[in-house]
Amino acid sequence: MCGIVGFTGQENALPILMKGLYSLEYRGYDSAGIAVFTDDGLQVVKTKGRIANLEEKLHEAGNPSSTCGIGHTRWATHGGPSDRNSHPHLGGRDGKVAVVHNGIIENYLFLREQLEKHGYEFQSETDTETVAHLIDFLHKGRQQEDLAQTVLTALSLLRGSYALGVVSMEDSREIVAARRDNPLIIGLGEGENMIASDITAIISRTRRYIILDDNEVAVVRPERVTVYNQLGDVVDKPVQEVSWDLSAAEKGGYAHFMLKEIMEQPRAVADTVRPRIQDGRIVFEDNGLTDERLRETEHIHIIACGSALHAGMVGQSVIESMGRVRCSVSVASEFRYTDPIVKEKDLCIVISQSGETADSLAAMRQAQAEGAFTLAIVNVVSSSIARQADGVLYTWAGPEIAVATTKGYSAQLAALYLVAAKLALARGLMDEAEERSFCEALLELPESIHKMLEDVGTVQYLASKYTNRSSVFYLGRGLDYAAALEASLKLKEISYVHSEAYAAGELKHGTISLIEDGTLVVALATQKRLFEKTVSNIREVTARGAEVILVTTEDFDGDVSACRCVIRLPACLERFAASLSIIPLQLFAYYVAVERSCDVDKPRNLAKSVTVE
Ligand code: M6R
Repeated sequence: MCGIVGFTGQENALPILMKGLYSLEYRGYDSAGIAVFTDDGLQVVKTKGRIANLEEKLHEAGNPSSTCGIGHTRWATHGGPSDRNSHPHLGGRDGKVAVVHNGIIENYLFLREQLEKHGYEFQSETDTETVAHLIDFLHKGRQQEDLAQTVLTALSLLRGSYALGVVSMEDSREIVAARRDNPLIIGLGEGENMIASDITAIISRTRRYIILDDNEVAVVRPERVTVYNQLGDVVDKPVQEVSWDLSAAEKGGYAHFMLKEIMEQPRAVADTVRPRIQDGRIVFEDNGLTDERLRETEHIHIIACGSALHAGMVGQSVIESMGRVRCSVSVASEFRYTDPIVKEKDLCIVISQSGETADSLAAMRQAQAEGAFTLAIVNVVSSSIARQADGVLYTWAGPEIAVATTKGYSAQLAALYLVAAKLALARGLMDEAEERSFCEALLELPESIHKMLEDVGTVQYLASKYTNRSSVFYLGRGLDYAAALEASLKLKEISYVHSEAYAAGELKHGTISLIEDGTLVVALATQKRLFEKTVSNIREVTARGAEVILVTTEDFDGDVSACRCVIRLPACLERFAASLSIIPLQLFAYYVAVERSCDVDKPRNLAKSVTVE
């Protein structure tokens, strides 16, 4: 999704803004732009395409020098990617105001009509330009007000979600920032301050930051930052410190962030699990999952999107089998609009790497409004979902930059295993001895993941062999079906190869008609009691000409002669198999994408953090 960066200080803002924009690239974008103050007024340079295109344009424009400015990477919503629709947008005929925006202004058409009646001419199709003109309009009518006051008034007229950065010719050292349902932080430096969509854009200059909350407005100047609430009262904001190093957000010698993050999975899982296992017992931080609450829980709702949803499906299976509580998994964007039955004794687990996914956040609020206790399983510390949930279980995966999640997903699985065990303990379904052996197995998981990562060669060979297939099917049952969904998503999102995941028994109800000579089928069979069933499904597809790669366990002794390749997982608790089977399939997706020369870390049309509905 869009990214915002802004800088005001003593140094030339342009290189700082550009560095910030590059670090926000991973969020996904299709155009970029900056606005800086020059002697001739506010200079805006913007373009469709990559930041490298913006650099070229800036070069042609003489690389304007200024100590204050704002920058933006746009992910198109209103109006396609084009130079005109790129941000920043200027407000007013004389272009005295420039605005960058993330989010969606829902009532922009109405406001646009009103502003057009006042003579405002629009240059773009965006909702954002409405905000720029609106601020200009309101400011002109209220000459005595400062920009922040005008922005507050403008915000009261906007419906929708936003993170905004606004600059005005009236004060060439000031940035006004605002947020509602879209992340925005303020980096605090020495004699300089920044605004940004996330930490990656500020960390090269400062580790200290404050998080703007919904409906707050900040006035950011080199020497100070003042935050106001909706009423215009000054708010005292706690200062946070970034807990990870810049190197964690750099490639560290790997060709892509995705590969680095795949390789980091043993560490991500270990960091998520180890602090919560002490002397063989599970010890949770104060996240509200008390034994009493877990005992009384009548229904568990897992809510998430994308890969987090797939993690939730694995979680559902483990939670139900260990904790014997009914657990449903919902796509966040569906949950919101299906009038879900949520009761006070329900536990709602919201899973999100970024902690900013708009649908997951809104679904969580809905569950809260119905009185359910909400637990967030989130990676990004102090993100919106983490702050607004009743309790948080952080996945300590560290910053994840590649759009396709890998270590974030693996850490989510680990967190869910812990929740399942805690539930079983609280409900008397697991005794101390069982807890100790469960913890031992969980502590061994990082090493097993590490073993899976050792045989990159086989996967690389398979990727080169099957890179030109136009469609790939993934099959599995139960836990393996959830893992198949994630493996399929990995392949399609980064390599653009069409792929589908099917519950293995469901294939014959229609999809099997797509299987023909040479179709690649990846079958997952890691659950002993389902081995034979999956073997039958493998036979069904090989009989129709499919080439099968089988991912199974060491002790699978079925007939594999029909399979082209068998990848075996090291011994582990069956419940944890999804954490291992996904590893070669992440690598497979990665190497297929590399073979096809795809932009692995920034796949087309995708955003890392989906902050709009
Ligand atoms: O930040 P979140 O975990 O809430 O994001 C959810 C999905 O957007 C995300 O998992 C998406 O599906 C990834 N591209 C998958 O790799």
